[in-house]
Amino acid sequence: MTDSFSITNPAIHAYLDRVRPPSDEILREMEEHAEARKFPYLGPQCARILHALVKMSGARSIFELGSGFGYTMYWMAKALPARGMVVGTEGDPTNVAAAKEYFRRGGLSNRTDLRCGDALGYLRAEPGPFDMIYCDIDKEGYPDALDLAKPRLRPGGIFVADNLLRSGQVLNDVSRETATVAIQEFTRRLYADPDFFTVIIPIRDGMSISVKAG
Ligand SMILES: C[S@@+](CC[C@H](N)C(=O)[O-])C[C@H]1O[C@@H](n2cnc3c(N)ncnc32)[C@H](O)[C@@H]1O
Repeated sequence: MTDSFSITNPAIHAYLDRVRPPSDEILREMEEHAEARKFPYLGPQCARILHALVKMSGARSIFELGSGFGYTMYWMAKALPARGMVVGTEGDPTNVAAAKEYFRRGGLSNRTDLRCGDALGYLRAEPGPFDMIYCDIDKEGYPDALDLAKPRLRPGGIFVADNLLRSGQVLNDVSRETATVAIQEFTRRLYADPDFFTVIIPIRDGMSISVKAG
């Protein structure tokens, strides 16, 4: 499985893909869907981290910003206990329709609530608190996502974000690319925030995991 976003050594990436357990039948179909359309989805190696975080934390309420055709929502929903819920948000109605069909076929409709429209607007309208918030929207929106997510996470809740390394573009200290500048600001603010303990995992395109104090 190729991944144009990955900064992981390609041989290591291929090795990890070879040795990991195969995804379930619907997820494999979603992986083929993404590869065929060159859709920038998270991929199984990092989606397994999301799944593990949900299980480890016992999360029951999750909010996702940027759900695409439902791949990451599907992985998180599968890890939820009974009566858990993932609220997803996606701007493209075609992706929303595809996601809902995958959830129906995977028996996950009752644990998923996917809304079509601007993720930041939907999060603003939510009082929370959520156990976990996952951010994967257009990178210019990350600083605002951080401002909105923090008060809507419970104490001890987890804030996760993708693309912290921007295919290595973050190495450019004087970048003028708005998405890279936004990610650099987001990274500085996450690490500086005393209410979060943050780690950045340099796998694929870099994923941040921040635990809120409490
Ligand atoms: C990188 S894709 C990832 C999707 C999904 N998390 C996955 O890994 O499969 C990001 C998605 O977020 C959507 N998106 C970007 N900015 C958004 C916003 N502000 N509100 C809602 N959706 C947004 C895009 O349409 C795209 O489908």
